[in-house]
Amino acid sequence: MNFHVLTLFPEMIMQGLHTSILGRAVQKECISIEAVNIRDYTTDKHGKVDDYTYGGGAGMLMQAQPVYDACQTVLKTIADKRAAQESTEKPVRVIYVTPQGRTFHQEMAKELAKEEELIFLCGHYEGIDERVLEEVVTDYVSIGDYVLTGGELAAMVMIDAIARLVPGVLHNNESAQTETFHDHLLEYPQYSRPEVWRDKRVPQILLSGNHAKVDEWRLLQSIERTKKLRPDLYEKWEQQQAASHCP
Ligand code: ADE
Repeated sequence: MNFHVLTLFPEMIMQGLHTSILGRAVQKECISIEAVNIRDYTTDKHGKVDDYTYGGGAGMLMQAQPVYDACQTVLKTIADKRAAQESTEKPVRVIYVTPQGRTFHQEMAKELAKEEELIFLCGHYEGIDERVLEEVVTDYVSIGDYVLTGGELAAMVMIDAIARLVPGVLHNNESAQTETFHDHLLEYPQYSRPEVWRDKRVPQILLSGNHAKVDEWRLLQSIERTKKLRPDLYEKWEQQQAASHCP
């Protein structure tokens, strides 16, 4: 899967996403992450990419032209690559990361992980000229109801969550199957050595070697934890359980 990030701060994306598990996945060529500097596409001779807003008001706005040209260049590169491979003409999703978008969640990560190419557009200052958004954006997505100084951190959060679902990115023992949000349940508590730490013992059942009992205990812990910490998710789980037991 190939991620393309349109940004004024490419070094943020490259430094943030080429380490740890994603860095390893890039080396293995399971994914690629490219940061495209929007400033490289401005036709302004001073390299300017922002200007005052019509109608007045504080702050500067990113201008349409460099954003449009950067995006079209990436789209053209993808189209040429696909033509050479004689592969699909599937439209490429262009995600504008903005606090005005739909809130990102695990199901959205799963859906986006099925794409072969994704373009993220990161805004700065007061945002981006509406006309170019109308031209290129297919999805408006937020990572939560708070405002960041720019879209880069939000794009990085989404890319991390999507990339780890791409086959081959996680090792088997890091599997995305039994974890938090799977089936609307939070993950059960986990323990490692030593068996006793500050007078706290690892639950006896986990030392029993009885895998069926361990699984049963973990499911119960997941249910209890979800009920206590995320009653909203617990409600969804209960509904799902009721539906799956209907004749
Ligand atoms: N840009 C600024 N704040 C943001 C947020 N909460 N989500 C996505 N993009 C943003």
